[in-house]
Amino acid sequence: MKKLMAANWKMYKTWDEARATAQELVDLAASKLPEDREVLIFPPFTAIRAVSDAFADADGFSVGGQDYYIKEEGAFTGEIAPRMLLDAGAEFGLTGHSERRHVLGENDEYIGEKTAYGLTSGLKVVFCIGEKIEERKAGKVEEVLEHQLRVGLKDVPRDINPENISVAYEPVWAIGTGEVAGVDEILEAHAFTRKILISIFGEKGNDIRILYGGSVKPANCGEIIALDNVDGVLVGGASLQSESFSQIVLA
Ligand code: PGA
Repeated sequence: MKKLMAANWKMYKTWDEARATAQELVDLAASKLPEDREVLIFPPFTAIRAVSDAFADADGFSVGGQDYYIKEEGAFTGEIAPRMLLDAGAEFGLTGHSERRHVLGENDEYIGEKTAYGLTSGLKVVFCIGEKIEERKAGKVEEVLEHQLRVGLKDVPRDINPENISVAYEPVWAIGTGEVAGVDEILEAHAFTRKILISIFGEKGNDIRILYGGSVKPANCGEIIALDNVDGVLVGGASLQSESFSQIVLA
């Protein structure tokens, strides 16, 4: 299984800025990208085409949309349909990110509906889970992760091609804080996630990639990516500069 080195650019970068960063990333990393790695960027909607153009000739580099709505088209002001993401050159969609859960108020049921809808619409989906600090302090990590996984993946077909769905474990307290989860915390959460994926999908659960996200940097990526059940990373802040993200991609 290829490791998925993913960047979440959140609400940063105009068209020109995105195009320049994507091109620099190709120049820095494309010729050195190991066979067993894939690179993925989630730019803002307005820059998806800029990044997909920059990646046109770069093998193993793809683009995704940070969100989408659960309809094909219609009177849904401000929303974007999966087929519009595909049309702009995106192959992936992102669901369940903690900022959509906790800032924009999306609940587990809606995230589950969105995850299944994206897959049936032809997107590959990166589905995020993760506990808040108070949930960790209360000893509820496994309870929270299991609930998010079971509800979020409820309508995903059991015969899914495991390459089309990935889970990103992103402890909320480690996102954008500079506080990376410890090795033991990552190992435990990823092993538990693997166990639940197997209980949902059977043997296929072994082939679903589990990414870690939360303050991944060039300095810690090498150690994290080598851990058991870590099949990639999802990077926010440190993905915005081509220099640091290329070091992460090649770590
Ligand atoms: P961070 O963000 O790398 O800035 O912590 C990760 C994310 O939000 O996916």
